[in-house]
This record gives sequence, structure tokens and C-alpha cells, in this order.
Amino acid sequence: MSSYDVIVIGAGPGGYVCAIRCAQLGLKTAVVEGRDTLGGTCLNVGCIPSKALLHASHSLHEAEENFGKMGLKVAKPKVDWEAMLDYKQGVIDGNTKGIEFLFKKNKVDWIKGWASIPEAGKVKVGDDIHEAKNIIIATGSEPSALPGIEVDEETVVTSTGALALKSIPKSMVVIGAGVIGLELGSVYKRLGADVTVVEFLDVITPGMDGDVQKTFQKMLAKQGLNFVMGAAVQGVAKGKGKNTVTYKLRKDDSEHSIDAEVVLVATGRRPYTAGLGLDALGVEMTQRGQIATNGHYATNIPGVYAIGDAIEGPMLAHKAEDEGMAVAEVIAGQAGHVNYDVIPGVIYTAPEVASVGKTEEQLKAEGRAYKVGKFSFMGNGRAKAVFMGDGFVKILADKATDRILGAHIIGPAAGDLIHEICVAMEFGAAAEDLARTCHAHPTYSEAVREAALACGDGPIHS
Ligand code: FAD
Ligand code: NAI
Repeated sequence: MSSYDVIVIGAGPGGYVCAIRCAQLGLKTAVVEGRDTLGGTCLNVGCIPSKALLHASHSLHEAEENFGKMGLKVAKPKVDWEAMLDYKQGVIDGNTKGIEFLFKKNKVDWIKGWASIPEAGKVKVGDDIHEAKNIIIATGSEPSALPGIEVDEETVVTSTGALALKSIPKSMVVIGAGVIGLELGSVYKRLGADVTVVEFLDVITPGMDGDVQKTFQKMLAKQGLNFVMGAAVQGVAKGKGKNTVTYKLRKDDSEHSIDAEVVLVATGRRPYTAGLGLDALGVEMTQRGQIATNGHYATNIPGVYAIGDAIEGPMLAHKAEDEGMAVAEVIAGQAGHVNYDVIPGVIYTAPEVASVGKTEEQLKAEGRAYKVGKFSFMGNGRAKAVFMGDGFVKILADKATDRILGAHIIGPAAGDLIHEICVAMEFGAAAEDLARTCHAHPTYSEAVREAALACGDGPIHS
């Protein structure tokens, strides 16, 4: 039997970051991971492989659509799917091995296998029992099932299967216009598939700012994605070489169907806690099947904590990482803290979409007095030079105090630009603070400054 200050269960972004921080704070730490590689959903079948395919397919699009416009003459690019999958795997391997290296460097032990918690202070892996003063559950999430749909990960797939298809399908139906559906739908559209997204609601990316939702859907439609909105999927029937997706339009209950070689089910994810023995241990859960925790990530069982996708909050890698660092600090007697008001969300399509803080709809619902500063990338010289003039930066600020309450960007490098606003919000900045900050020219970030100017006396370039 080995004995630790901390055992973390799960080596995703929540678990591995937490373990490294625990070790840095002087705690003897081990991580139990059942997969063959470290990094969790994010590195193996999530953030990283999807971004590799987004990059490869976007590069194809650039070569096909924009090279000629810049006087670059190349032969029509061809897609070697196997080579693209090898590239993706290489990216995954580089990252997962990197975590192994970081574990060694920080003296974090990797206990290989699937863990359960037979009692507080003990973690069971195979036949071995390990002792731990503190146990942190970071077991992540899995795709939600949809009644009437049997996933085989070959032609009816979740994101995991969609990241490793045997060939590029001629047609794809994506169920759910959320983040996974739109990112992977864009990948296969750019690779040549005919892609139709079927969404239950009347808007895409529920929860995002309404202005962004509308512009984003228009842009994706212009790129060739088909949308069926307000449609409740009833089931998927498997046929020879095709799958038939049936759905009912919510407005009139009429039934329709659509055929596709591959169906991607992307209707959300749910916490993964199977096999941990939480029931027997008496761990309290929320109504949505998440592990219930207090402000310090403690469950109702002393010495047992939980973080990441397994608890409430947005299912994002950086949210899991921040919670991992915070709980390590709490256990080490420091003041670990995550500011949930300033967690950015990014969709890595082209253009990217990024948001932080309140949406205009939320501010209206709260009855807050606010002002809107909006600036189109059409007024940004750098964006126009690279054919990315579509989209905008929208900053929402308190009407009386000018304090920034939220920001929503659709356009080039939105996922990086948003962080300037995140930092401003962390410091409680006013829009005027951003507007008075000198921004280098020509950069996309000038659009952020112009949106901040639009909250005051007005932007210069529109
Ligand atoms: P996970 O990453 O799910 O890791 C949990 C780990 O625990 C797994 O490795 C699992 O094997 C292990 N485990 C589970 N049970 C046990 C057990 N009993 N014993 C031992 N090990 C166990 N988020 C972003 O922020 N940006 C993105 O671009 C992004 N892209 C995504 C793309 C896709 C296709 C998907 C599916 C998700 C994406 N996400 C993205 C979400 C992101 O992957 C998750 O929010 C993040 O991985 C959550 O981290 P975690 O540490 O909580 O759990
Ligand atoms: P999601 O919650 O983002 O979107 C699911 C969509 O499916 C919603 O629009 C919903 O209305 C729709 N839907 C649900 N049931 C339906 C039905 N029966 N018929 C038609 N549509 C239906 O979930 P998604 O895309 O599966 O992603 C899961 C999680 O992974 C998200 O929480 C997200 O945060 C995370 N993720 C993050 C990424 C990023 O940060 N770039 C990338 C990919 C995933």
C-alpha cells in the first residue's frame, strides 16, 4: 500500500493541472488514469485533435479560396485523409507525452488503471488500495445519449468517432448546433462533405449573445452549411451505406427525414462518474448528475473533492484547469479561487467566436442599464487584408459606471482577442480604460479598442 497527501482521479486538464500544482506546493501526489495516455478528453479526443483538424481543413480552404487572390499559384490541393489523421495523431502524441514529462519533472506518480473510492482516504486501483489524505475526483464527462439513436462510432458517431472516421463522408447530418456540431461540421464541410445541421432550438449556440448567434449562423450558411432549425430529432435508422435521420418540426409537428452517410450526435455531454462507487460512499449529486461541491470544491465527504466537467459550470478545459489549481491551493492552506464571471468561451471555427461575461439578453433579463459599443472588422485594415472583414467586436458596459460587463467577438483571432477584455474585467476596468490604451497598428486588437471607443464618444474608423 502506498500513501499520498493527494490522489487525483483522472488526468484531464482538471486532474493533471491539479496534480502538478499540488506537487509544486509540496504535497506528495499521484494521479490515477485509466486511459493509455494522459491528458483526458481534451488532449485525446477533444480540444486538441479537433483543433488539428480545424487547422488542416482551414488551410485547405485558404489554399482553395484565398491563395489565388494573393497571386499565389498552386495546383489544386488534394486531401490525403490518412496523412491528415496521422498529423492529428502526432499532435495528440506530442501533447500527451508532454504531460508525462511534466509529471516526471514534478515527481507526480501515475498510477495506471481505473479507480474507485471504497472509503474516504482510500483509492482502489485493480487489487491495490492506496491511502490519500485528500482525494480529488476529476473524471470528466462523456457524450449524452439521445433516445432512439444507437451510436456505433463508425457511421453514427459522437465527437470521438467523428475525429477518426475511416474516410471523408460525402454527406453528414449533425444533430445539435452547439460547439461540437459547428466545429466538426465546419471541418467536414471544408473537406467536401455536404453537411446539414439539425437543431432543436430556433438559434444556434444556445446561451451566446443573440447578435453573435445571428451573424454566426449567416456566416456558416454562406460557407455552405445547411441548417434545419426548430427540429426535434426522433431517431436514426441505419440502412445500406446511409443513415436516415427523422425529425419533427416543432412549429407544426410535421415529420421529415434526411439521409446521410455519417450522423454526428452532438447534443451535449454529461458528467462521467461510473465505477467510482460514489453511491456507496454517499456522495451528494446535483439533480443534473454532477458531483455537488461547495465553494472550495469539497464534496459532503470529508477529504473528497471534485473539479472540472464532473461538477457544475461550463464544460471547458480552462475552467477545469483553473479549478484544479484552486483546489490544490485550498488543500495546501492557501486561498484558491476561480472567478466564474470571467471565464471566456471560444468556438474555433473560421472566423472564431469568443465571449466573456454577460450577454445582452442576460443584461436585459436582469433589468441592468447598459450601453453597447460595437465595431465591425470591416473598419480594421489588417482584417480586410486577410479577407476577414466579416464580424464584429461588441462590448457591453454599465451605463452609469462604464464598467465592462461582457464582450462578444466574431472575427479573426477572436479567441485570442477576448483575453485583453478578460484581463480588463479582472481588474474591474471601464470601457474607457481599454479605449485609452494604445493598441499597435495594424492589429486585429484595434477593433477591440474601437468597440471600447464606441462605448464612449465613438469609434474612429466607422
Ligand atoms: P476529462 O478531460 O474528461 O478527463 C477525465 C479523465 O478521467 C479521462 O482521461 C478519463 O479516462 C479519466 N477517468 C475517468 N474515470 C476514471 C476512473 N474511475 N479512474 C481513472 N481514470 C478515470 N474545451 C475547451 O475549453 N476548448 C476546446 O477547444 C474544447 N474542445 C473540445 C472538443 C471536443 C470534441 C470535446 C468532446 C470536448 C472539448 N472541450 C473543449 C471540452 C474539454 O475537453 C473538457 O471540458 C475537459 O476535457 C474537461 O476536463 P476534465 O479534466 O474535467 O475531464
Ligand atoms: P452543446 O451543449 O454545446 O450543444 C448541444 C446542442 O444540441 C444544443 O444546441 C441543443 O439545443 C442541441 N440539441 C439537444 N438535443 C437535441 C435534439 N434532440 N435534436 C436536435 N438538437 C438537439 O453540446 P456539444 O456541442 O455536444 O458540446 C458539449 C460540451 O463540450 C459543451 O459544453 C462545450 O462547452 C464543450 N466543447 C467546447 C468546445 C470549445 O470550447 N471550443 C469545443 C467542443 C466542445
